[in-house]
Amino acid sequence: MHEKIAVLDFGSQYTQLIARKVRELRVKAEIFPYNHVPRDVIGIILSGGPSSVYEPGAPLPDPSIFSLNVPILGICYGMQAIVHHFGGKVEKGLKREYGRAYLEILSDDPLFYGLKRKTLVWMSHGDKIEELPPGFMAIARTENSPYAVIKHEKIYGVQFHPEVHHTEEGKKLLENFLYRVCNAKGTWTMESFVESAVREIKETVKDSHAVLALSGGVDSSVAAVLAERAIGKRFHPIFVDTGLLRKNEKEEVVRVFRDKMGMDLHVVEAEEEFLSALKGVKDPEEKRRIIGHKFIEVFEREAEHTGAEYLIQGTLYPDRIESSSVIGPSRTIKTHHNVGGLPERMKLKLVEPLRELFKDEVRRVARILGLPESIWGRHPFPGPGLAVRVLGEITKEKLDILREADAIFIEELRKHNLYNRIWQAFCVLLPVRSVGVMGDYRTYEYVVALRAVTSEDGMTADWFRFPHDVLAAISTRIVNEVRGINRVVYDITSKPPGTIEWE
Ligand code: XMP
Repeated sequence: MHEKIAVLDFGSQYTQLIARKVRELRVKAEIFPYNHVPRDVIGIILSGGPSSVYEPGAPLPDPSIFSLNVPILGICYGMQAIVHHFGGKVEKGLKREYGRAYLEILSDDPLFYGLKRKTLVWMSHGDKIEELPPGFMAIARTENSPYAVIKHEKIYGVQFHPEVHHTEEGKKLLENFLYRVCNAKGTWTMESFVESAVREIKETVKDSHAVLALSGGVDSSVAAVLAERAIGKRFHPIFVDTGLLRKNEKEEVVRVFRDKMGMDLHVVEAEEEFLSALKGVKDPEEKRRIIGHKFIEVFEREAEHTGAEYLIQGTLYPDRIESSSVIGPSRTIKTHHNVGGLPERMKLKLVEPLRELFKDEVRRVARILGLPESIWGRHPFPGPGLAVRVLGEITKEKLDILREADAIFIEELRKHNLYNRIWQAFCVLLPVRSVGVMGDYRTYEYVVALRAVTSEDGMTADWFRFPHDVLAAISTRIVNEVRGINRVVYDITSKPPGTIEWE
């Protein structure tokens, strides 16, 4: 069992960031709803949040966490919740304090080990503490907050956000909390994760068989390798060729998983089935719905032959949080995701070995497992594939044109060393033709749009600033080499207001 920190979520936009920083510091962190009472933890962190402790219905921690006898760190609202619980006074701030402030350290404390006496921190709060509860003392202040860091035995509160990048020594402070206050040993590494994930799959699946929908994306690929290590020939990864994949995508998956890793990869040729189901369909949401259903149908058919009792899925931590109702008072819900509905319908038991990982952690695991960069360094690719990149009605001809253009685009990005600086890049085939001239001939062909964005998580994004000569090279090659395209445009819309995909 790994030592663990519980992060109680009071609705801050930074809750996940806290968990992530803790894990970067080699301690396992798990997020729970604000009123959860965690067991077997070495410490608890109370996140910030948008509420005010005196508001009716304000989220407050279960009082029993204060008698668990483990160190607690309250951040911003979490600090106010501590003060409120112990009988101090929190006042509605007349003006919000937002931005940078200098933290002045007033007394030596394990929490401040190695920090400068004056260090830059990031504030973002409305309410502030007016009166400390009995037994608490202020151990650091800022110009506007006399109680910027408070303490009582092993209970700490900080008014600022140590988890954000703008707090210069925030990570150091969290490290001190973990190692000097909670006495962590730092056992959470990706190698130890691999070991425990393999063990878990083994112990769960036992002598039965398991299937997995392998897309070649990093999540399902990592889940596949772990499963293969755990149960070997009783593991049956299934790859569905929907006809909506990129150029050479199937070949690459076969090369890596069947040829190189020796997996018993089932490849289902379902292009015709998908394309005929999509015939004449123009509406993006309708396309998604049809593809989702078709996928389940095809997968189910194939999986039945294997006699599997278990479905292994590469669901990540953020996927789980987004689809769960138990966490946090403020959470946005994403609708498009994963192979929803499979386990219930097929009566398969679900195993999710990556359920506690973040995307960058999965990438690290992928490297440890020896997966090639073509898998772990790959841009995200949407479940419905090229169906949402051929705008309007889908035909095989249009898909082929798009595949060729897209392959050239990506090849050029790699050639110019830009691929890894871009979060996601692809071509979109527009449902319009425009006039051009080639040699002495008039042409009347499709327009392709290039999309390339930088982003942290896909929720917001900005268009990538290309050097013009790279755009020129891409455009020239696409128009010269792809039959059916005579015009290339570049999408310069950020998200919001645009979305990354065009449909
Ligand atoms: P948007 O277009 O919503 O995309 O800005 C954000 C990220 O999500 C991907 N995306 C999808 N992924 N099923 C998926 O699995 C979908 O239906 C879907 N639609 C968009 C998109 O590629 C981008 O990475």
